[in-house]
Amino acid sequence: MARIFLTRIVDGEALDRLRAVHTVEVWTGDAPPTREELITGLGDAEGLLCMLSDRIDADVIAAAPRLRAIANYAVGTDNVDLDAALARGIAVGNTPNVLTDATADLAFALMLAAARHLPAAERSVRADEWGTWEATRWNGAEVHGATLGIVGFGRIGRAVARRAEGFSMNVLATRATPLAELLARSDFVSLHCPLTPETHHLIDAAALSRMKSSAILINTARGGIVDQQALGEALRKGTIGGAALDVTDPEPMRADDPLLNAPNLIVLPHIGSATHATRSRMTELAVANLLAALAGQPMPNAVV
Ligand code: DGY
Repeated sequence: MARIFLTRIVDGEALDRLRAVHTVEVWTGDAPPTREELITGLGDAEGLLCMLSDRIDADVIAAAPRLRAIANYAVGTDNVDLDAALARGIAVGNTPNVLTDATADLAFALMLAAARHLPAAERSVRADEWGTWEATRWNGAEVHGATLGIVGFGRIGRAVARRAEGFSMNVLATRATPLAELLARSDFVSLHCPLTPETHHLIDAAALSRMKSSAILINTARGGIVDQQALGEALRKGTIGGAALDVTDPEPMRADDPLLNAPNLIVLPHIGSATHATRSRMTELAVANLLAALAGQPMPNAVV
């Protein structure tokens, strides 16, 4: 029986399967554990179930001498130092596939919301500003028939492309179209690549300057892919039409972040995979990864 530390309570019944075999300790604080709390909580744990918001770096790994298995509750693993884990022989797993559709749905929701000014229009009703049927005030961009540029054509990028077919969109993807051309031709640009040293600030001032002045940027991948200062300037100068972000850098974004003063911007608190069914499936995969690794088997969804 191993001790497993969970940094957050998660949805779904699969945890019971873990509890039946191992000692499971869940961090129950309102806020995620600080670095010190994470290190203390890990202590002699052999398994860790962590969130994308937990930075599992070399020092955290070094401070957990018995750690054998890390199950990241996300498909992205940029929050885990994979080299440090590999060097210690610690198995690391993620939760691919199960969140593809939920995340693609949210990318589409953001595209529609930004194109048709949904948040601002809804706020105007609550502010009692609905004076009359408006002939021009809320006119936005058409999604159907528009050109959608998909940066990163993996599982989620392809799922977004499938949805775009239903809207008769013309889809460009970085797999077949160079990024500079994709940015110049797209009415909507949706990001679906992982955050790596190569994709950090991939969408910088130069990239933004290639986009149409009417184009809308959607990011449901990782905040670090976009240079947020450059994005703020592009929105303020109107060199792009708008942006809708489910992810920011850093997370959480504070209410006084200067980017929030930029026009035509929607920001959500990283909810791409946040449906009951998807989060339960993510729990299933994370639990399966831990059970396997702690039994000396390969994780079903191993990253290293
Ligand atoms: C992931 O799994 O990487 C997603 O960002 C979670 O929503």
